Amino acid sequence: CAMIQEKHKSSAMLTHGFYFLRVQFELWDSDDPVPRKELLQKVKGVDGLLCVLTEKIDAELLDAAGPNLKVLSTMSVGFDHLSLEELKKRGIRVGYTPDVLTDAVAELTVALLLTTSRRLIEATHEAKTGGWGTWRTLWLCGHELANSTVGIFGLGRIGVAIAERLAPFKVKKFIYTDMAPRPELASAINAEFVSFDELAKQSDFLAVCCALTPETKEICNKNLFSKMKNTSIFINTSRGGVVNQEDLYEALSTGQIAGAGLDVTVPEPLPTSHPLFTLKNCVILPHIASASYTTRNAMSSLAANNLLLGLRGQPMIKELKL
Ligand code: DGY
Repeated sequence: CAMIQEKHKSSAMLTHGFYFLRVQFELWDSDDPVPRKELLQKVKGVDGLLCVLTEKIDAELLDAAGPNLKVLSTMSVGFDHLSLEELKKRGIRVGYTPDVLTDAVAELTVALLLTTSRRLIEATHEAKTGGWGTWRTLWLCGHELANSTVGIFGLGRIGVAIAERLAPFKVKKFIYTDMAPRPELASAINAEFVSFDELAKQSDFLAVCCALTPETKEICNKNLFSKMKNTSIFINTSRGGVVNQEDLYEALSTGQIAGAGLDVTVPEPLPTSHPLFTLKNCVILPHIASASYTTRNAMSSLAANNLLLGLRGQPMIKELKL
């Protein structure tokens, strides 16, 4: 988190393009989130705030900041940690970081999909712990992408990038669902728009790429899983909140679906005692989809530039329309 105050006598001079802006800023210089109590104190009177997705930006925080706060910049593409209504009400502009993380997230999603479907975690465990006996015909068999139908729930930039990377694996068909058809994006990957039910029924691999909103909260629940094939693989790299984890546990443990790969959960971190960790057919990653050096640098720089532009009263590079 960086809290910024515009000052004439400053501790730093930051540049963006040809412009100079004198600012005084305070940096939370730790990988661990700033404790809420401390954030509420430090945010008092700031003009700008740069945050990451672990900070809940709600009425309490905005009240603590007070009326000087003009610009919020989140270093994330997701914005479910922001109360947009409260920000809008106070006339606070909001920057975020789409696009720069699309490649990294798509790449990780493909890695997670293959890890889950070809049972790589189980396989390395067996190899390391003596479970590797003679070559056996059906041992550690999984499901392959060739000739499969891949379903995308929420077709945006990331969904398209995932499909582009999966196409060379000889996927037979891409299908997707969203609030409405998105022909301009779908045509790039030759994807067919289907209903939510058809997506569940037809997908051999179902990748969730939607934003977490009141409409998508826990939308992946027993209704969805019960319609999926028992050979299907469920992948989520969006937000944990779109999944009902009890229903997912049930679907995985009863063989209703073949496997799940999750980069996101509720809560984060997921407690090590969580039942999902007991399942061999569930691969859980600690929210690392955008974690490449290149991408995290690009996200930081975009978030900082959004903030500075916002403070200057100029259009941000990537600004949310509130
Ligand atoms: C985001 O940006 O919203 C991702 O979840 C983390 O990079």
